[in-house]
Amino acid sequence: MCGIIGLIGNNEEDVVDQIILGLEKLEYRGYDSSGIAVLDKDCKIKRLRAVGKLHSLKAKLAVDRISGSIGIGHNRWATHGTPTEKNAHPIISKNVAVVHNGIVENYKELKFDLKKDGCIFDSDTDTEVIASLLQRGINNGASPREAFRKMLQTIEGSYAIAVMFDLLPDTIMIAKQRSPLVIGIGANHCVGSDITSIASFCSEVVYLEDGENAEITKDGVLFFNRNFNQIEPSRHRISIEVIDSGKGKYQHYMQKEIMEQPSALRRTMLYNKIDKSILNDISRILILACGTSYHAGMVAKYWFEKFLKIPTTVEIASEYRYRSPVIEPNTLVIAITQSGETIDTIEAVEYVKIHSNSKVLAISNVKNSAISRIADFVFYTEAGAEIGVASTKAFTAQLAILASIAFMHYDFLIQELQSFPTYCEEVLNLYGAMNDLAHKLCDAKSAIYIGRGSLYPIALEGALKLKEISYIHAEGFAAGEMKHGPIALIDDNVPVICLCPDNELFDKTHSNVQVALARGKNVIVFTDFGKSEILSDEITKIILPKIHVEFVPILYVIPLQMLAYSIALLRNTDVDKPRNLAKSVTVE
Ligand code: AGP
Repeated sequence: MCGIIGLIGNNEEDVVDQIILGLEKLEYRGYDSSGIAVLDKDCKIKRLRAVGKLHSLKAKLAVDRISGSIGIGHNRWATHGTPTEKNAHPIISKNVAVVHNGIVENYKELKFDLKKDGCIFDSDTDTEVIASLLQRGINNGASPREAFRKMLQTIEGSYAIAVMFDLLPDTIMIAKQRSPLVIGIGANHCVGSDITSIASFCSEVVYLEDGENAEITKDGVLFFNRNFNQIEPSRHRISIEVIDSGKGKYQHYMQKEIMEQPSALRRTMLYNKIDKSILNDISRILILACGTSYHAGMVAKYWFEKFLKIPTTVEIASEYRYRSPVIEPNTLVIAITQSGETIDTIEAVEYVKIHSNSKVLAISNVKNSAISRIADFVFYTEAGAEIGVASTKAFTAQLAILASIAFMHYDFLIQELQSFPTYCEEVLNLYGAMNDLAHKLCDAKSAIYIGRGSLYPIALEGALKLKEISYIHAEGFAAGEMKHGPIALIDDNVPVICLCPDNELFDKTHSNVQVALARGKNVIVFTDFGKSEILSDEITKIILPKIHVEFVPILYVIPLQMLAYSIALLRNTDVDKPRNLAKSVTVE
């Protein structure tokens, strides 16, 4: 998490507005605080920082304008140190300003050592040791380049760093280790945590690899490997699709992204034709993912075992490498990650690569993301940029790819899948119904979601959507598991949202619905026309289109996304940037 940007103006122009534009694009990475530092015309470091979202920094800038033709900026998602102004980046130590995304893991030892040398610390951040190490180097007579290289040899952990020195007023020094960083070359030479943040300033980009570092000036960029030998990495032209098209007519990105699902699904299926050879000699599938992507993996397990007859395990990536997992021969590993950057998923894949010969298939929404560079092959969900922190269209697009793999031997299912987006369009008309339901549920303290079979992961996903954007406590359960404990939570004030399509598990789930109704009066059932008439009148029913049973999980998640969105609106939360969260999770 955290977003960093650095930019050098052409012809000495002021870069503050461009840095703010870049920070707007990076706000999804963290919004506990933001800050900017520039070198002014007298080569003095000028800095402004503000707690909270970027608009606070903009308000400060409006009254206390700084300007300069070289600058760095930062959006923070707090790890070390509370979200206060003193902990906001850029962190300065006399001649040096630093922005950092990642964690300096050996910061305690380094801080102890630096303090013994008389260094004074102003913040509680791990990042301040970077600034202090650089300053100590300068004080000891090193050049900025020497100090920067020595610092890189001293710190451990993960980092994307951009540094400005007042002694070297035309250069930004940067380095990357396990945190994303893209360098832009073109009208401006620049650096950012992702491509969208710098796409408007340059025409080509270079994705730095771990251990690589660079020096950016207005005349060009010098690239170095971890041994500081100069290298010439390959450059990529920026395609138009990376430029975020904004919210359009919608109030929030999340709303727009929910509505975009039919087109996202169509594009994803069009661009991903599954080559059956990916399963040659495969006798097991291991899925690694986090959060919503993990729920997509859980749905896939049902499909893979039923249609491919391949035993499938789904693992929470953050847990996986901290036990001693057995990776059997002929296992295909599928890493699912919207951002392609989630450190837990990346590290789990690295673990697999070290401990087995398994091939890794990545499913990601971001071209050239970190996962795509370590996987053996990649399927891209063509959902377009997903900006809202709560994942919606990326999830259904992931399911479309996973379904295409699962049904590869069943042409009729693949054909049905092609027509599936039309049903999504129908479900999107339920906004009014979800809004009415939201009025009934928005004051709940807690909510329960239940489902069976492939609807169980959708219950988990529905609960996750509700908790992350409305801050209502919500839990998803396998419907049959309720009687083993969670049923004790039900009373008239706890809504129970039941996913009960007309499939082979209908009768069983219906029994669970009745049991819930016997204990609480707020039971809501999402079902289809087939059996809705047998449901008790006391139940609130949401009727969805009748579709092939295998596609039900993809369809049923959509009204749950809309419901969470409508409830969050009524509770007046910041839907696209919910508290404490960040879109892309690059710390463990
Ligand atoms: C989803 O709404 C969440 N914001 C979160 O659970 C997310 O799915 C998770 O962090 C994994 O992200 P990834 O798909 O980018 O790896």
